Amino acid sequence: MTVPVITVDGPSGSGKGTIGHRLADHLGWHLLDSGALYRVTGQACLQQGVDWQDEPAVAQVARNLDVHFESAPTGEVLVILAGEDVSRVIRTEEGGRGASTVAALPSVRDALLSRQREFAQAPGLVADGRDMGTVVFPAAQCKIFLTASAEERAERRYKQLIAKGESVSLPRLLEDIEERDLRDSSRAVSPLVPAEDAFVIDSTARNIDEVFAEVLEKVGEKALI
Ligand code: DC
Repeated sequence: MTVPVITVDGPSGSGKGTIGHRLADHLGWHLLDSGALYRVTGQACLQQGVDWQDEPAVAQVARNLDVHFESAPTGEVLVILAGEDVSRVIRTEEGGRGASTVAALPSVRDALLSRQREFAQAPGLVADGRDMGTVVFPAAQCKIFLTASAEERAERRYKQLIAKGESVSLPRLLEDIEERDLRDSSRAVSPLVPAEDAFVIDSTARNIDEVFAEVLEKVGEKALI
């Protein structure tokens, strides 16, 4: 039996994490947060003293990653690395830099490929990432690509970090986002681009409910609901 897959790709701050979660909840399907796997790889490197640029060593870390995901009673998904809850530390700015650096290494992407595909289990999978529709699940039944302007994504991130009590500068965040966009979209392997058959949805100046409604419409067009 083919397990149905919906891919939700896009840059950070486009809303794909929230939309992916909501969609998986709505359908009662599994969720793959592929960015978390790259973040955990970066974190495991820090723990093991492996340089993020040392491709063979990072690939080895990725192949042997002892990671699993657990649902907390709050509904939050906990990321457990070698028995330790790393959910918070992987979401820091440094965690993002590590993820983006190791994600540019072809053999690291290769090492994580089969692990990502194993998430496709009945009754279905919502896969959130950058290359879900192009590389990991090219035969997915429905592909969504979410975008938003860099300015709006920086502002969303700024509000999130301020709410968490972190002191951040908006111009610095915008600079970081633009730098990361460039790195993610210009890398040789699995660059951040929409699949040819993806629905591209721009979430700039729209609230999450409006975007979710449009996503559901697209999923409906593919006869998945
Ligand atoms: O979605 P996120 O912000 O947690 O992703 C963290 C980093 O991992 C981001 O810089 C891009 C990279 N990534 C990737 O290259 N491919 C994916 N499928 C998911 C994330």
